[in-house]
Amino acid sequence: MSSLFSKTISLGKELKISDSEFRDLRDFIYSQCGIYIADNRKYLLENRLANRLKRLNLKDFGEYYYFLQYDSGKTQELSRLFEVITTNETSFYRNPPQLKVFQENILMNVINEQRKNGKTSLRIWSAGCSTGEEPYTLAMIVHEALKSEISAWDIKITANDLSARVLDSARKGMYSEYSLRTTPPEIIQKYFDSDGRNYKIRPELKSLVSFGQINLKDKAQLKRVERSDIVFCRNVIIYFDDEMKKQVISAFYDNLLSGGYLIIGHSESLHNISRTFKPIHYPGAIIYQKEG
Ligand SMILES: C[S@@+](CC[C@H](N)C(=O)[O-])C[C@H]1O[C@@H](n2cnc3c(N)ncnc32)[C@H](O)[C@@H]1O
Repeated sequence: MSSLFSKTISLGKELKISDSEFRDLRDFIYSQCGIYIADNRKYLLENRLANRLKRLNLKDFGEYYYFLQYDSGKTQELSRLFEVITTNETSFYRNPPQLKVFQENILMNVINEQRKNGKTSLRIWSAGCSTGEEPYTLAMIVHEALKSEISAWDIKITANDLSARVLDSARKGMYSEYSLRTTPPEIIQKYFDSDGRNYKIRPELKSLVSFGQINLKDKAQLKRVERSDIVFCRNVIIYFDDEMKKQVISAFYDNLLSGGYLIIGHSESLHNISRTFKPIHYPGAIIYQKEG
């Protein structure tokens, strides 16, 4: 009777992470991708990793930590780990006031500067692109800005993320109505093929965007990204500590062409992170420029 009772309890028991297991995993995750999980978010690791432990038949988080370092399947598991610890929340036309500033001021400045110099190339980098809504939104805005002139331009939007799963989904370019909640109806009409339930990105947008896996913690990978006129990195550095933010922002600075622009999330700031950019204040957005 007493053993049946204790079995019932252990079956219903949630797997708890000890303080030392949490510290080991937190430091390991930080060393691999720069995402810093604060002490008060310990539950996040517990909840998000529980399924991985079950799937791998491991009895506690200490075994999982060991697996990540020494098992022959560690590289594959690291990918799974990235998928479960990242937050991939995004949508088309996210933060419309900021995108209005982008469309009317930043993009037009870059386009006009290129025209003035007899050039027709445009390079935009969407770092931390999640399931693709951000880079495809940028492709729509570029289409809107250049209109019929677009075919004469050489345009590339480089879109990167850490998670292979979100990139697979981004490449498919198939979305639900929910992702379009802040998208103007005329844009939906123009740039998606829809059967009423699913919305598929039109080929002329897909051809502008090139998806690839990049870890922002990896300086060598960052150096290989083609130089950009504009870098978008919105709602990504919020997950990093100051040291990692400094590294990433400095990599964006090096990547940008002179006079280029950096656009970060509206709740993010470069305060105490970088003094190299010139902040430009617009109604509804602060944009950072690399002075030329
Ligand atoms: C909240 S989403 C933001 C998506 C989009 N930029 C937006 O604002 O809607 C953050 C993305 O950053 C990615 N990310 C986090 N750490 C990363 C790293 N070290 N390297 C590359 N991408 C990373 C995550 O996988 C996630 O898809």
